[in-house]
Amino acid sequence: MGLFDYSDHKDWMAAELPSRIHLLYNVIPEIPISWVHSPGINMDMALNGALQCDHKKMAEESKYMLKLLNGVKTLKVTAPGGTDIEIKIPQEFRWDTDCRIVPPGADGEKGVFGNMPVGEIWSEKRKKVKVFDGLEKTEYEKDYPIPLLANGLLVCDVCVGMHDGALNEKQKLYIEFTDGNVSKSYCDDKFLADKIFNQWTDAETRYGLPTVLEEIGIGFNDKARPTGNMLESEKMGKTMHLAAGNIGLHVDMLFADPTVLATYNDESYKRIMDKGYV
Ligand SMILES: [Fe+2]
Repeated sequence: MGLFDYSDHKDWMAAELPSRIHLLYNVIPEIPISWVHSPGINMDMALNGALQCDHKKMAEESKYMLKLLNGVKTLKVTAPGGTDIEIKIPQEFRWDTDCRIVPPGADGEKGVFGNMPVGEIWSEKRKKVKVFDGLEKTEYEKDYPIPLLANGLLVCDVCVGMHDGALNEKQKLYIEFTDGNVSKSYCDDKFLADKIFNQWTDAETRYGLPTVLEEIGIGFNDKARPTGNMLESEKMGKTMHLAAGNIGLHVDMLFADPTVLATYNDESYKRIMDKGYV
């Protein structure tokens, strides 16, 4: 288990985390070691928060939800906060869960690498694209999201990545998506609006690529809290999160009590979540 405390050097996380993740993704699946990865964990999270959940119950729930998501082609998501969005899932997307960190067998089975605390199901995918960096005036290859083809409104009313704490009534973020791209964004709180939305307009200007819907996630951890630390918050039970992505950018936005109608490849449909309950 790797515990990394960045509280005295907040900038260390951004500096060393991506290279460590790259190393772990490549090494752990090849050797008989499982690795639990906890960037930014703290004692409060461990003793009072998401680590205290019922892991067995969560593993069962997430397994059942993965079954429900098998063969899904469209999700229609609504929520009491105002979210009303339809998301087409491209064929190459897969659903995954971190609700199980399996210890490798004594006979040397290969390991699993994942975050701790755990508690979500998600789907996202990136691919390498050639871009011209307008800031450094050079062309290179970078990871860019394959967009989930969303149309409609996301109202983020729980918490948002890169912002501490739960959002109050005035801090709700309204994001409109058109064919997968962020087409409009609004928030009453000007400070928060600038902090969040400027990141994606900066990326758009720098690389000339739109900010898109990169990820859908569903939380299952009943002890996770809206602290704004996404290691914990994006796993909150009875929430979903959608993330806006661009080159070097991933902003998770949570909303409460989603109702989800799934349409499958064979045109059948099913309500797979009702006001946050599976
Ligand atoms: Fe995310």
